[in-house]
This record gives sequence, structure tokens and C-alpha cells, in this order.
Amino acid sequence: MTETFALTPRYPHLLHGADYNPDQWLDRPDILEKDIQLMRKAGINCVSLGIFSWAKLEPAEGEYHFEWMDRIIETLYENGIYTVLATPSGAKPAWMAQKYPEIRRVDRHGMREHQGGRHNHCYTSPIYREKVCQIDTLLAQRYASHPAVILWHLSNEFGGECYCDLCVEAFRNWLAERYGTLDALNHAWWADFWSHTYTDWSQIEPPYVNGETNVHGLNLDWKRFVSDRTRDFVRMERDCVKAVNPDIPVTINMMEDFYYGLNYFDFRDVVDVVSWDSYPHWHEGADEILPAHQTAIIHDLMRSLKDQPFLLMENTPSTTNWAAVSRVRKPRMLMLSSVQALAHGSDSVQYFQWRASRGSCEKFHSAVVGHDGTDASRTFQEVSQVGKMLQDADMLYPTQIRAQACVLFDWENMWAIDNSKGPRNAGMYYRDTVREHHRALWRQGIACDIKDSVTFEPDRYKLVIAPMLYMLRGGIEDKLRKFVEGGGTLVTTYFSAVVNETDLCFEGTVPHALCDVMGIVQDEIDALYDGMSNGIRVTDSDGLALRQSYRSTQLCALIHTTTAKTIGVYETDFYAGSPAFTVNHYGAGQAYFLATRPQEDFYTDFYTAIAEKLGLERALHAPLPDGVVAGKRCGENGDQFLFLQNYTYEAQEIPLDGGYIDLITEQPYSDRISLPPLGSAILRPASSANR
Ligand code: GLA
Ligand code: ZN
Repeated sequence: MTETFALTPRYPHLLHGADYNPDQWLDRPDILEKDIQLMRKAGINCVSLGIFSWAKLEPAEGEYHFEWMDRIIETLYENGIYTVLATPSGAKPAWMAQKYPEIRRVDRHGMREHQGGRHNHCYTSPIYREKVCQIDTLLAQRYASHPAVILWHLSNEFGGECYCDLCVEAFRNWLAERYGTLDALNHAWWADFWSHTYTDWSQIEPPYVNGETNVHGLNLDWKRFVSDRTRDFVRMERDCVKAVNPDIPVTINMMEDFYYGLNYFDFRDVVDVVSWDSYPHWHEGADEILPAHQTAIIHDLMRSLKDQPFLLMENTPSTTNWAAVSRVRKPRMLMLSSVQALAHGSDSVQYFQWRASRGSCEKFHSAVVGHDGTDASRTFQEVSQVGKMLQDADMLYPTQIRAQACVLFDWENMWAIDNSKGPRNAGMYYRDTVREHHRALWRQGIACDIKDSVTFEPDRYKLVIAPMLYMLRGGIEDKLRKFVEGGGTLVTTYFSAVVNETDLCFEGTVPHALCDVMGIVQDEIDALYDGMSNGIRVTDSDGLALRQSYRSTQLCALIHTTTAKTIGVYETDFYAGSPAFTVNHYGAGQAYFLATRPQEDFYTDFYTAIAEKLGLERALHAPLPDGVVAGKRCGENGDQFLFLQNYTYEAQEIPLDGGYIDLITEQPYSDRISLPPLGSAILRPASSANR
């Protein structure tokens, strides 16, 4: 575990900020002046500036205008507001797209895009790279030594792919470097199948819609290449700004839901600070547990990428403009989601955006300041309360989260599973399955890291859950073996250890190199149509408090045990009575194999029992009411902070495991606290009460 440290050394505090786009108001000094007053009122201490400012910074080729930005950075700073300075590469100016067509992306049909939108430049184009480096360097020369600038925000939400000739050429070079010879590539891709053997590098094309989409190794390598290309672009931008002043940290704002197109684990070394943009669909169901968990697991991922706190770079003060239905945030929801972010390791709450645009597609996206232009709105009031909370909670800086459990989520594994043409093309649900396992720990207030096959370190955890570990890469099989041998508890499932890292099926038994660790062999894998189910009947619970039976759906691996003991068997079909859930004692540890996909009740019972058995640390040593979640952050000096979150629409009474004091209100609680619907609190133990 790395030492705690300041994410933004020039301003080592919790950040309360917003995307600030004053380039839309440069002809309105009255508005810019009002912005500063209102920012102070809302307790804003930083803004993300210049994200889409290229056309105002360089309105014609080589003609630069920084005066407006000088003024804004300076005035903000005089008012105690720091700048997270963006590079403008996320949206290219029209003159550039017109003059240099190669910078515009080509889509999967091979069609070059017209100018418009954003996040649509070619990552390979030497011209675009040169233009970006020029503007980045000028920005750095002008501002990187200004005490107001605390962080680089490189571009915006990197993503997407380009199929232009330059990218195709780069792909071929990337492959040549990876495989060395065409023979090696043909073998790795199993290209002799259907006579798809390549006899010259120039025959290789990316998976165009009307081209080659059946070679799984190609599909997978294209995804890897796109991720790698994007990373290379990020590295280029980073190097340009760091060449001027290496001391300002850089971040990129990542996206939610295990953003499909980029393997974020590979970006951990090119950024100093991890940050992400969170837009949950609140207020869709009877409670907020599911959207809260979807957010929680990404917070955990972001913390785990660099094993350090991260920033919540964007979240919406109320509605978005892009959801099918945009509900306003109900009272207390903004505070609750802000406390949640802190609970998982965020050192900031930042918004998109400060002031609502008057026109174009984001005019109805909520902002801290709406079209009324005042502080009168409910949204402004709630944002100000979060600002006040962050000021009071500044003693959290620097603290961190220590997890004894880890869930493996691997991007390359996901890409390969989704492309497997396997037992259920109707949906394998890898991400959902990962979430289900994680959610059972989250609901108990047990901290959990998210690692991939490469970043997982066997010595750190007591419990490791590796759902659907279809692809073995990064030596994960050896790490998991070592982990179990050394006394760890491993949980894995059907569809594990099936292929190597180019998606070739292993010869021999499945789960390939883990058969002895799991003590089972998979003979077949049956898939169920939607609406069908089987079940697990518990025959010998091995000391775990389990019910007699659990329903399961979608996939049923038919396995036989070698050294494992059967905990539960299938309930129906011709394989009724054969093992569905097993445990193997291996070395000093144990390995559970779940052969089918159960429902939430199973995960709840199983992970409650496992947590008990392993003595996993919980944030609160008292039973949590359903829908109440607890998190904990610790300081080097022994400080502890407890975060309580009520994701239900009922008031909740929460028993405490000792005396606590509310960090914000200073109110003491001896043995219980009640939270209103959607309520939250940050508490510190009464015994460490000095502030
Ligand atoms: C993303 C972008 C922002 C804005 C918001 C709207 O997160 O980074 O520029 O468009 O979405 O929700
Ligand atoms: Zn391209």
C-alpha cells in the first residue's frame, strides 16, 4: 500500500469544484463577475477551466488569445479559487478540421466524419498530435508556474476509435511488434480457419463492419490496440505539459460503468491522479440501492487503479440532458452521493457544470447556476451545503481505505467473453456478475478493491473473487495458486480458465491451470434460455450459514470433483444431483467454485458467512439496516472516519458500535443514530475526538 499523499500538492485540501466554461460568456463581464461572487457563496475552491476552449484560444491557425484566460485565472485566484487547467484537445476547432481532413475520424464503415460534435479526433494523425502539443506547450509555458494551477485535466473523456489509413498502418506496426512474424500472428489468431491466413502484413485490416469480424484474436487485438493508441495519445499530451513543469500532476477524466472501450488499468502509469465522471440514474426504483452500488463499484475501481484517493471530477448537481428520463435530484441526494464518494476514497466533489449554457445540446443540463443566474435555486442551496460539508471534512485529507477483499475485473477478459460466440450469445453478463459479487460485500460495509489479472497482488488480501475468469493472462493462474496456497480464500465460477491471452482454447481440462486449485473438472457447460432456471440444493454447507436451496439461471457448468467437497448440487434437469457449488482445501487456503449463476439471496448469505469466517473487517461492527451502507477511511495517525449512507426512502435507526461525534454538526451519539430518508453522516469515534 502506498503512503497517503496530496493529490494536488499546491492546494492539499478536499476539492469542491465545477467545469467552468466562461468562453461562452466572454462578452459578458457582468456574468463573469457574478460567477466569482456565486462561487464564493457555494464554497467552490477550484474550477476545471478551458476544457473546450480551443476556438477561443486559437481562433485562426497560429493566432493565439490568452488574455481572457489570464484574467480569469488571476481573478479566480485572487478570490481563493484554484484552477484545474484543461488541455483543449477534446474538441477541435472548425478551421482545423476543414484545413486538415486527416484529423477527423473514420468510422467502422470506413467513412470519414464531417466536422461536428467532440471527442472525435484521430489519435494517430501526426498533424493533430503536433497541433495539440503546440497548444498544450503554450498553455504550460503561460500557466504551469502560476500558483493557481493545481492540476492538468488532459482533454476530456478519452474514448472511441478511428479506422483511418493512418490508424490501420499503426495497427499493423503494433501487431508486428507484438507477434514478430506473420506465422506467429496466424497461429495466435487461428487464422488458418476458413482460409483466413495472412501472407502479407498489408492484408491485415481492422474489423470493419463489412470486413473481417470472425477472427476473435483480431477483434481482441484491435480493442487492445485502440486502448493502447489512446494511452499513447495521453502520454504525448502529458509529456508536452510536463516538459515545461514536471511538478503539476496530470489527470484524465475517466467514465463510468467500466467504460467499455479503454482498459483503464493500463492508464494507471500515465496519470498522476485518477478522476472520473459519475452520472447515476437516481430515482428510478423504490430505493437507491442499485444505482448507489453501480456508483460504489466504480469508485472502488478508481481508488484501486493507483491505490490512492481519486477525484470525482464531474457529477451533475441535478438533471442531465442526455438520459431517457432526467429526474431532478431529490432533497439530500446530492449530499448523500457526495458522502458516498468520500466514503470510497474521493478527495473531491466536482460538478458538470458551473453555469448552464443558454443554447445548444446541453442547455437543459443542470448546473450549479441555472438560467435564472442567482443563488436562489434549491440546487444552488444543496451545492452550497456540500461545499460547507467539504470544508468541515477537510481533516479527511489525507486518509485512505484499506481493503481485505478484492474482486477481479479484467477488461481484456470482458472483451473476450463478449466476443466468445459461446454458450450464451444472448448475454453472458460479465459486468453484472462482477457487480453481484461485489455488492454483497458493499452492503455489509466491507471495503473491497477492484484489480485486474495484471495488477492483482496475492499477498494483500484475505478474500479474492474472480468471477468468470475466462481468459488467463498476466500470470493470474500462478498468482491465484500462490494466494490460496498461502491461506487465501478464492471464489471463482463457471467459464473460468478456458482460453489463453490470444483467445485460443486451452488443450486439456477446464479450468485449465486451476483444476487442482479448485479440485474440480468441468465436463460441459449448459446454457439456459431467458426465463428458465435451475437451482443449488445445499447438501453440506461446510459450516457456512446457508439456506437449503437457491435459484440459479443462465449458465450451468457440469462438473465433477477431484479433490473438492460438494456444498450444493443442481436441483433439476438430467444433471440434478451433480455438483453445483464446491470448496477445495488447497495449501493453507480454500477455493470455492460456483458452477452456475445464482440470485442475490445466495450472494448475501454466502458472503455474510465468508466474511464471518474470515473475520473481514467491517466499517461498523453492528448490524446495518437493509439499504444502509457504511464505509471507513483511516489516517496514518490512527484517525478513523465512518460514513453512513441511507439509500432508502425510510428513516433508519442505525445501532453504533461505540460513541461517535458527527464531523459536521459536532453532535455526539452514544449507541445509535437515526438518518432521514436519503440521509447521510460522517462520524468520528468519540475516543479520538480532538479536531
Ligand atoms: C460528460 C462530459 C461533460 C458533459 C457531461 C454532461 O461527462 O465530460 O463535458 O458533456 O458529460 O453530462
Ligand atoms: Zn485515425
